[in-house]
Formats: sequence, structure tokens, C-alpha cells
Amino acid sequence: MTTNQPLPQHSTLVRPGDGHHTKTPVIAFLGTGRMGSPMAANLASAGFELRVWNRTTSRTATLAQHGAYVARTPAEAAQGAGILITMLADGPATEAAANGPDGFLGRFPGLVWVQMATIGARWSARLAVLAARRGVTFVDAPVSGSQAPAEAGQLTILASGPDRVRDLLAPVFGALGRATVWLGPAGAGTRAKLVLNSWLVDLVEATAETLSFARQLGLDPASIVELLRSTPLGSPYAVQKATTMLGGDFTPAFALKHAIKDAELAVQAAQANGTHLTLTEALLPGWRHTAMVHGDDDLSAVYITA
Ligand SMILES: NC(=O)c1ccc[n+]([C@@H]2O[C@H](COP(=O)([O-])OP(=O)(O)OC[C@H]3O[C@@H](n4cnc5c(N)ncnc54)[C@H](OP(=O)(O)O)[C@@H]3O)[C@@H](O)[C@H]2O)c1
Repeated sequence: MTTNQPLPQHSTLVRPGDGHHTKTPVIAFLGTGRMGSPMAANLASAGFELRVWNRTTSRTATLAQHGAYVARTPAEAAQGAGILITMLADGPATEAAANGPDGFLGRFPGLVWVQMATIGARWSARLAVLAARRGVTFVDAPVSGSQAPAEAGQLTILASGPDRVRDLLAPVFGALGRATVWLGPAGAGTRAKLVLNSWLVDLVEATAETLSFARQLGLDPASIVELLRSTPLGSPYAVQKATTMLGGDFTPAFALKHAIKDAELAVQAAQANGTHLTLTEALLPGWRHTAMVHGDDDLSAVYITA
């Protein structure tokens, strides 16, 4: 399934039912994990020609069935692509895919690179510099929403980068999410994502502690979940995670190890700006302890040790 032929940076899309031929960019997608896989599948379903790469090739099998070309290296995936999306675990994995021996940077000037994983402010700034040196346009666009919204094409895209790529990316983001918010120059998307995920981890910790507190007071925690659900006190996310906690099924939608990474990135960003996230810093030691056994489980597993 490989080719060394030069490929077009655009393909011709025939939209079902309308008979119109539209030029659409070929998309390289790196990282077909829990989030990347359904995101790439939605792009394929929207009619984009896809070139995918993942470290563990078996995780690209479903996308190959969707007609995606499976590349052996990040550079091979980028060949002929107009847009490249990264959805890898973290900053180091993303930099290796971009700038490692098989990386795409330095080979494809003119490429538009959309970085959608949560990698933190420092990594985002570092990758933006690397991209600029190699003539690649860098768009920082992490997402809010976990696996189910990714599958449903209902993510919220926290986009930041140059205005001139907005039109190009509108149909791409349209296939991935229900809303795109443009926040300013590259880096603003990642900063917004850190703020949102600091809120998210604080909420999950408060939820776990609340249920545990109810249990210790001799109450049925399920009755507290019902009270949260039926009053303004319970956010839909907290109620959903509380239900998961009591159900005890910690199949990951958002792995605890990634939530810890995000909490650490938020704490670092706060410290770099001369401030402290008191709640987020306080939950981290307990979460790291829980992650020694439950790092690959859903973050709601923190209830086990709350
Ligand atoms: N899950 C969520 O709810 C959610 C929501 C919003 C944002 N995010 C963010 O989105 C990103 C992906 O999350 P996910 O839930 O899809 O995680 P995941 O299922 O663990 O997938 C991680 C991806 O990164 C790859 N990877 C990890 N380490 C690597 C390395 N050293 N070199 C190359 N590839 C490597 C994995 O490849 P392999 O398949 O080979 O392991 C996989 O493709 C993370 O930054 C996460 O914080 C997640």
C-alpha cells in the first residue's frame, strides 16, 4: 500500500447527490488513537482523500477500510498532502513525528499543519517556530470533547493561527466538530484548552470527593447524583462522570494518564505566568498515585481512591 509517485495536493471531490466537482485538499492524519481514529474516519466520510500514519499500524485498519492510504512514516503520509493533522499523545511524540528522522518538516514547504492534540503552551510555541523555519504554516487547534463527540463529529475546535487559512480549514473543521472558535494567533487555542481542562480535572476531583463524602456520611451516593442532576448544581459532565464512577466501568473515554498530562501542563503554564492553580496542584499527587494502576483507565477511576 505504498507509493513513491508524486501526488496531487488536492483531489477532486464529488459530493453525493449534487454532482458538483470541488477541489479539496488531500489530508495527512498522524495519530489514529482513541480520538484520532474517529476524527480521521469522519474526514474520510466527508469525502476527503486521507493519508494516515500511526506508530502501531494495526490501529489504522479501520481507516484503510474507509479507503485511507496507510503510510509507513510521517514523511510518507505528508507526501502530496495540502493539510497535515497531528493527534498524537503529547509534545515529544508530536515533535518526533514532525522533526525526527522520518518527520515531515523540511520536506514539504507550503504544507498547512494543524496540531490538534493537547501538548501545552511551551510545546505549541516550540513547534510553531520549527514549522516557520521550514516554510510550514502552523495552526494550533486542540479540541474540547472526548471520544463520543469525536465519533459523532461534535467536537469544539479551539482554533488559532493565521486568518488566511480559515477558509481552507472550514470544511475540515466542519467534518470534525459542531463549532469552531477562532481565538487569535497560534498558541491561543492551546492556552484556552489548558484553561478548560484545568476546570475539567477540578470538576472530576470534586465529583469523586463529593460521592466519597456522601458515602462516608452514610448516604447513598446515587441519591446525591440525582440531586445534582435535578438542580443547577450538577453540570452534565459532572453528572455523566458521577454515573460512571458509581457504575464502576472505567473503560477509557479520556485516559487518566492524559488528564494528568493536561493538569501538569496547566500548572506549568500558570507558574510560567507567575500564578498558581491551587486546586489543580492539590489533586495531582493523588491522581499520580491512582494512575500507577489505573493510568490507562478513564479519569473517572480517581473515584476508586477518593
Ligand atoms: N480522549 C479524550 O477525551 C481527549 C479529548 C481531547 C483531547 N485529547 C488529547 O488528544 C490527544 C490524543 O488522545 P487520545 O485519547 O486519542 O490518546 P490515545 O488513544 O492514547 O492515542 C495516542 C496516540 O499517540 C500515539 N503515540 C503515543 N506515544 C507516541 C510516541 N512516542 N510516538 C509516536 N506515537 C505515539 C499513539 O500511537 P500508538 O497507537 O502506537 O500507541 C496514538 O496514536 C492527547 O493529547 C489527548 O490529551 C484527548
